[in-house]
Amino acid sequence: MGIKLDVNCLDHAIKLVNGSQLHLLKAISMVVEPAEQVAIVGASGSGKSTLLSLLAGLESQQQGSINYLYNNELLTEINDISGFVFQHFHLLPELNALQNVALPMLLKGMKGAEQHAFEKLRLVQMEAQAMQPVTKLSGGEQQRVAIARALCSEPKIMFADEPTGNLDQSTAEQVFEHMQKGARAAGTTMIVVTHDLNLAAKLDKIYHLENGELRL
Ligand SMILES: Nc1ncnc2c1ncn2[C@@H]1O[C@H](COP(=O)(O)OP(=O)(O)O)[C@@H](O)[C@H]1O
Ligand SMILES: [Mg+2]
Repeated sequence: MGIKLDVNCLDHAIKLVNGSQLHLLKAISMVVEPAEQVAIVGASGSGKSTLLSLLAGLESQQQGSINYLYNNELLTEINDISGFVFQHFHLLPELNALQNVALPMLLKGMKGAEQHAFEKLRLVQMEAQAMQPVTKLSGGEQQRVAIARALCSEPKIMFADEPTGNLDQSTAEQVFEHMQKGARAAGTTMIVVTHDLNLAAKLDKIYHLENGELRL
């Protein structure tokens, strides 16, 4: 089962070079249950990426708290058990699909890394292209490789920032479906930032970020 996320009164302002502040997030509160899949939607520039980075612990917040609970136990950090899917896939161009997916596991010295990677590629229906250099793959295929890589660590929570933002509508739907299926299979909690309301509607809950506030 996935992680429960409990966010209380998160408040975040960015200090700008001219000395003024950009008050992006004001008293954000949300609860995401284990294995729940939620969307965060909002206009461009509303602070979605900033919020997701805070939730994923990639940035630190100024005020408020973010609690991660696993089996009712409070976790102090989640780096090892979370996955992140970026809008730009961040694949290594000199490697093939399988190597890209297996690499993080190989670096950790995990046994059976390649077989594990192959299974995740199968889950996103990319097993036929496993040996292809990623530069030969389409955008949708590359994003599926990136999703397979994120799923490989069997994350207890997965964060995705516009994971289908660079794809056409039908490819976006397919990729999204694979991602949802992978997360459901593993019971992974999933938080997806998207501006695509059609995709957001496929998730369990939709949060709207507007004027620094988050509403259901
Ligand atoms: N470190 C920063 N310094 C200055 N401005 C920033 C910084 N981070 C984000 N911003 C600005 O804050 C706004 C919101 O950013 P972001 O979280 O990326 O929004 P979204 O993902 O919803 O488009 C944008 O206008 C962006 O340029
Ligand atoms: Mg963004």
